[in-house]
Amino acid sequence: MNAPMNPNKALWEKGDFTRIAKSMRESGEALIQRLGVSKGLKVLDLGCGDGTTAIPAAKLGAEVLGVDIASNLVAAGNQRAEELGLANCRFQEGDVTNLHQVPDQAFDLVVSIFGAMFAPKPFEVPKEMVRVTRPGGRIIMGNWIPNDPTLVAQILKISSAYTPPPPEGFVSPMTWGIESNVIERFAGAGVPAQKISFARDTFVFNHPGSPIAFVDEFRKYYGPTMNAFEAAEKNGRAADLQKELEELFNRQNQSSRKDATSIPATFLRVTVAL
Ligand SMILES: C[S@@+](CC[C@H](N)C(=O)[O-])C[C@H]1O[C@@H](n2cnc3c(N)ncnc32)[C@H](O)[C@@H]1O
Repeated sequence: MNAPMNPNKALWEKGDFTRIAKSMRESGEALIQRLGVSKGLKVLDLGCGDGTTAIPAAKLGAEVLGVDIASNLVAAGNQRAEELGLANCRFQEGDVTNLHQVPDQAFDLVVSIFGAMFAPKPFEVPKEMVRVTRPGGRIIMGNWIPNDPTLVAQILKISSAYTPPPPEGFVSPMTWGIESNVIERFAGAGVPAQKISFARDTFVFNHPGSPIAFVDEFRKYYGPTMNAFEAAEKNGRAADLQKELEELFNRQNQSSRKDATSIPATFLRVTVAL
């Protein structure tokens, strides 16, 4: 008998997120530079995709494990590490809400950049993050912010307006971009608010093509936008969705070149010092 489908896994195995991740390489590298990653540091990257932050951490000499629910992205990450000769970086399949394969207190730094925020059961996420971090270690999350006017929050907002409503009890991933929710969820894992700090940070998406061509990448390869188009096509609204996204990408593009797109997006950087 087939195992029941996990919609969380299916969403991210859909399409090919590596196509979007290519536009995130520079900012992934820059973020890791800012986190003080050094040789030998034990780093766990949760919801790591194909290694936007895991690979740069390994390039700095850290011992990196990337965990992701999507088997295609785990395979892509392992292939990138192999091509780069990074024996100190490996990727494995897993769910951030149940990291049964990861021992307690095994990591100095646990990062999750736009990763764990997408897991259902948000209260389970900090419990697992705290369990696998050593005392004195750090947890860093990057979370998109609800109603923020910049790129990704707007793509997700527009996409969800065209997608059928989620099942009852579904907690929006965007709630991870609200500081009081982060504090409440880490409190559930025994972490007092004084140990948590917040900062606004920026990821820049760089695409070697026009903003319209970049919209096309999202339409063809980014699970949440693919789902929105599938639903919109059924009720004749696909052209409206396309137009909204094109307007958004054109408006936010900061590149002056015709054949390049550069769009900054604001996120909430959460630092938990254990
Ligand atoms: C927006 S992508 C970001 C990927 C990567 N961190 C990056 O910045 O390129 C979200 C990632 O979270 C992963 N993800 C979603 N839910 C997850 C879960 N429950 N456990 C592990 N990974 C998950 C997805 O498979 C996907 O790779």
